[in-house]
Amino acid sequence: MRRKKVVVTGGAGFIGSNLSAELCKENEVTIVDDFSTGKESNIKGIIGFGGARLIRRSVTDLEAMKEAFKSTDFVFHQAAIPSVPRSVSDPIKTNDAGITGTLKVLVAARECGVEKVVFASSSSVYGETEMLPKREDMECRPMSPYAVSKLAGEHYCRVFTELYGLKTVALRYFNVYGPMQDPKSEYAAVIPRFIDCAFRGEAFPIYGDGLQSRDFTYVKDVVRANLLAAESKATGVYNIGSGKRTTVIELAKAISEVLGCEMRIAHLSPRSGDVRDSWADISKAKRDWGFEPAYSLKEGIAETVEWFRRQDGL
Ligand SMILES: NC(=O)c1ccc[n+]([C@@H]2O[C@H](COP(=O)([O-])OP(=O)(O)OC[C@H]3O[C@@H](n4cnc5c(N)ncnc54)[C@H](O)[C@@H]3O)[C@@H](O)[C@H]2O)c1
Repeated sequence: MRRKKVVVTGGAGFIGSNLSAELCKENEVTIVDDFSTGKESNIKGIIGFGGARLIRRSVTDLEAMKEAFKSTDFVFHQAAIPSVPRSVSDPIKTNDAGITGTLKVLVAARECGVEKVVFASSSSVYGETEMLPKREDMECRPMSPYAVSKLAGEHYCRVFTELYGLKTVALRYFNVYGPMQDPKSEYAAVIPRFIDCAFRGEAFPIYGDGLQSRDFTYVKDVVRANLLAAESKATGVYNIGSGKRTTVIELAKAISEVLGCEMRIAHLSPRSGDVRDSWADISKAKRDWGFEPAYSLKEGIAETVEWFRRQDGL
C-alpha cells in the first residue's frame, strides 16, 4: 500500500502499533487511541514530524471519528478491550468499546466515504467447535462477552456492506504475539508472559493441564494480512493464523529452547471463558488474496525474545 490516507484505531496498542509502523513507511497515518490499554512508548518512534498523527479519543466519540476519518482511504479498526478474562469481569466496558465503538467507526467511515474498513475480529467468536481446524463457515458460539462483542462487530460490518455499500472485511486473528506485547498486565497473553517468566527464572504459569492448544500467529504476518485484505476486493470474514496447532506445553518447550533455559511449570486452575482448542484453517485467505504466513513459531519467538532483551537492556 502506497500514498494512501489511513486511520488505525487502537494504534497505540500491540497490533495497532506494529501495523502503524509498517503503514507509516509509505502512507499518511492517523492513530486514534484513548490509551485505555495502549502505551505512548509503543508509538514514540512514529509520532510527529514525518510520521503519524495522533488523536487521543475514544472510538465511541462519533464526532471525533467523523473528523478523524475525513478524506481517509482505509480504516484499520483495531481498538477494543482485548481480553476474555477482562470481559468476564467487566462486560459493559467490553461492550462499549467493542460493539458501540465499532458501530460508530462504521457510521463515521460511511459518512466520510472511506473505501474500506478492516476490522480486527477474533478466533474467540467460534467458541468450542466439534471439528478442527476452524473454518469460516462453521457455526459460532461465543463463550465470553469479548467473543460476543467481536461477533456483533462482524455482523455490523456485513450489514454496513449490504445496506450501505461500505466495503468491510473482518479478520479473525488467532493468538497474535510479537514485539510491543505487554507481559506485565494482569491479562497478559501467554507468550509475553512466558518470556517474562523465563527472564526472571520463574516457572511458566499454565492454566489447567497445558494440553489446550492454540494457533500462535506472529504479528508481522497479521500486519501483512491487514494490508492484503485492505487492497483486495474481498469483503466478509477471514481467519488469520499460522495454520498450525501448538499445545501450551509445547509452547513452553519452544520458548525454553529458544532461550536455552530449563522448562519449569506451575499448574493453575483452568480459566472460565477460555476455549479448549483453537486452530485456524487459513485456506480462504490464501485462495482469495494470497495470504501465506512467513514466520514459523520458533522464528517468531526468536524475534520476540530479541525485542524483549532490547527493552530490558539484557
Ligand atoms: N492479541 C491477540 O492475540 C488478538 C487476537 C484476536 C483479536 N485481537 C484484536 O486485535 C485488536 C488489537 O489487539 P491488541 O492485542 O493489539 O490489544 P491492545 O490492548 O494492545 O490494543 C488495543 C488498543 O485499543 C485501544 N482502545 C481500547 N478501547 C478504545 C477506545 N474505546 N477508543 C480508542 N482506542 C481504544 C487501547 O488503548 C489499545 O491501544 C483488538 O481489537 C483485539 O480484540 C487480538
